[in-house]
Amino acid sequence: MRIGILGTGGMASALAEAWARGGHDVLVGGRSLDKARVIADRLGDAVEAATPARVAGACEAAVVALAWEGIGPVLALAGAGEGSLAGKPVIDCTNAVDFATGLLKPPTGSAVQYVAERAVGSRPVKALHLFAGTSWLTRPAAGQPPRTVAMCGDDAAALATAATLIRDLGGVPAVIGGLDHARQLEGVAGVVMRLVAEGHNPVTAVPDVAPSQR
Ligand SMILES: NC(=O)c1ccc[n+]([C@@H]2O[C@H](COP(=O)([O-])OP(=O)(O)OC[C@H]3O[C@@H](n4cnc5c(N)ncnc54)[C@H](OP(=O)(O)O)[C@@H]3O)[C@@H](O)[C@H]2O)c1
Repeated sequence: MRIGILGTGGMASALAEAWARGGHDVLVGGRSLDKARVIADRLGDAVEAATPARVAGACEAAVVALAWEGIGPVLALAGAGEGSLAGKPVIDCTNAVDFATGLLKPPTGSAVQYVAERAVGSRPVKALHLFAGTSWLTRPAAGQPPRTVAMCGDDAAALATAATLIRDLGGVPAVIGGLDHARQLEGVAGVVMRLVAEGHNPVTAVPDVAPSQR
């Protein structure tokens, strides 16, 4: 698939590397073409540095890997308000969370809904916000379970595309509902951050429930 990543930071770089390893073509772009070039130069021919407009226009599925403050500006550079991402799956992996409090920055709604409003006609999915990007560069140790990627969205085809891309990273996709679940799912990141800040492993803060025990 041709995956377009909007963002040129750590998450964009890690996801580009993981998907390129999996045989995908990746376009990377943000407000700085120079930063995109650094990623592309590091990762080789499967990764192209591009303007946000080219990322949006050339991709089959897009990933928003931006700081909260960058979502509006970079989607505008991408022409998303004019429909450049219309009809395409757009995976939002952002954490619009105040790192000090763990509380969500959008006063209402969710970050993925904020993305949806700025990417007219796109098919948004919330996913991939909970694990570090670099975690997708290694597989779980022997005997450890694969990582479950909780996700939500309203469009079945977009969810299916996102699920394929998650499997290609080595994750197990788990749809928890529609976009009306997004704020709840995004809030989990804030809880995880607060647990880590208080010195706890978040994995030990949720019950260990085997599927057969539901
Ligand atoms: N890193 C991870 O492991 C990880 C895991 C899960 C989710 N996430 C989420 O993914 C998103 C990106 O994380 P990251 O670690 O890649 O962050 P990062 O390294 O700080 O990169 C942030 C990106 O946002 C851009 N940006 C920031 N402010 C901007 C503005 N005002 N206008 C335009 N662009 C702006 C940056 O552009 P410049 O470089 O030009 O400033 C860069 O492309 C965040 O929402 C984060 O919570 C990250």
